[in-house]
Amino acid sequence: MRSTIAMVLAALVLGCGDAETYKPPSGSIPFEPERPDVGTPNPSTTYTGSDPFVLDAQMRMPTGVDLQRKVILRTCGPTNGVCHNQKEYPDLHTTGTFASAINAPCNLQPGTFGSVFDRCERLGDRFMMTEQKFKEIEIGWYEVVVGAYVEYGDNETPPSDAAGFHLHVRDVVPLEHGRAYWGTGTFLRNFINAQGAVEQLSIFTYNTRWWVLDDGRHLYGEVHDYQAEDMEALQKVGIVQGDQNRNGNFGARDGKSVPLLNPGKPEESYLVARLRGHMQGDPIPGTRMPLANQPPSVTDMLALMCFIEGLDPNAKEWNLSSSINYAGCSYIANPEALSLVGAGVHWADRVWPILQSSCGGCHGGSSPQAGLDLLSDGAWTRLQGFAFGNPQLKLIDPGRPEKSYLWLKLAGDGSISGSRMPLDPLGSGSRSLPQDQLDSIQTWILAGALND
Ligand code: HEC
Repeated sequence: MRSTIAMVLAALVLGCGDAETYKPPSGSIPFEPERPDVGTPNPSTTYTGSDPFVLDAQMRMPTGVDLQRKVILRTCGPTNGVCHNQKEYPDLHTTGTFASAINAPCNLQPGTFGSVFDRCERLGDRFMMTEQKFKEIEIGWYEVVVGAYVEYGDNETPPSDAAGFHLHVRDVVPLEHGRAYWGTGTFLRNFINAQGAVEQLSIFTYNTRWWVLDDGRHLYGEVHDYQAEDMEALQKVGIVQGDQNRNGNFGARDGKSVPLLNPGKPEESYLVARLRGHMQGDPIPGTRMPLANQPPSVTDMLALMCFIEGLDPNAKEWNLSSSINYAGCSYIANPEALSLVGAGVHWADRVWPILQSSCGGCHGGSSPQAGLDLLSDGAWTRLQGFAFGNPQLKLIDPGRPEKSYLWLKLAGDGSISGSRMPLDPLGSGSRSLPQDQLDSIQTWILAGALND
């Protein structure tokens, strides 16, 4: 992996300033499509319980190789956009490329910038101007505005959408507004050399007149007709943008960036989140379900989650032919919670009827308990409001049961004030809703708590 990156970088560096012979990275993944070593499977404890989903998964998908063939290949087929936003990345068609998705960046080739998930953003390349002594600044995003060349005077200010090169950076550039600076824009990237040390390399330089616009974090570089080729070459280099989706949040900054498959952490694997439509409550931009194909079943999801959970985060290579350790997998406690479809869990035909029949006796009528009317029309809208018992939390926080006060009341969470719900109308304390009803409500919240 590293050597590949180094090679690509070397190619980029060599190609600098030479638009003729420069070959851009082909746009496909820099993975080595090697077959994994199909050695002897690791001995791992076999599940001996009786859960039908676990038994089914263990029988049909004993190893990562089976998982790739039976689930991934079908789900990430070339015709749908679950694993990739639009283009061909990531290629998960072989066990080898599937293995390479472990710890590989996500959203490398988004269709549009808006479809990038914050936590897929990487540390951006950096920018400096050789002649100006300011510290290099992380690049957020850039854009080339196409249009006829207009020459602005050295003491003029080009408009914010002037034809030319626009570079949006993380910090304010300490140069004056309202005047041009002639100079060498230099794009820098860190990479790891053969000795394992971090080195900083200039991956591109662009000479032009620069202006600082707007809030000081917007640089404008002039693109004269004779510079068009240089500008094209710059774009081909593939500058890493730290705020690729342009929402002001540099996703890799807070250490929350995630890869496609995160060894040991299924909940923070982009592939899983893409199937679910959210990651730990944050919505994932883009199409949620593999609409065209058969969506992964509970068994499929169980295999995927247990596979990822069982990957050693400290390993450098992973053997997909090892047995998936179902016996030691945390998800076997409640495989049904992995259901993606929400098994038909909709507000109107499932969730609201539960609330009406189990709660409406107290949470209805002219003076509902705790001011919460779950019985009459508008119940869904009322659930979007804040809780009386904890004004920090909403009754329902779409995607996050753990932040939804109504859910916490149903689960009897330690943080609630008052009693677990539902109270027993005969006055003998609290009860719990039956497990399948709880699962439905939880699934509905996880899937976005839609009014459907
Ligand atoms: C027997 C009457 C009774 C039933 C049945 C009942 N509740 Fe309650 N509920 C109360 C009372 C009384 C309170 C206020 C005291 C408390 O919070 O413990 C309350 C409070 C709540 C609150 C807190 C509201 C807030 O804004 O803080 C929620 C949420 C809630 N109930 C949900 C439910 C749900 C969901 C059900 C059905 C599964 C249910 N309740 C069934 C009597 C009932």
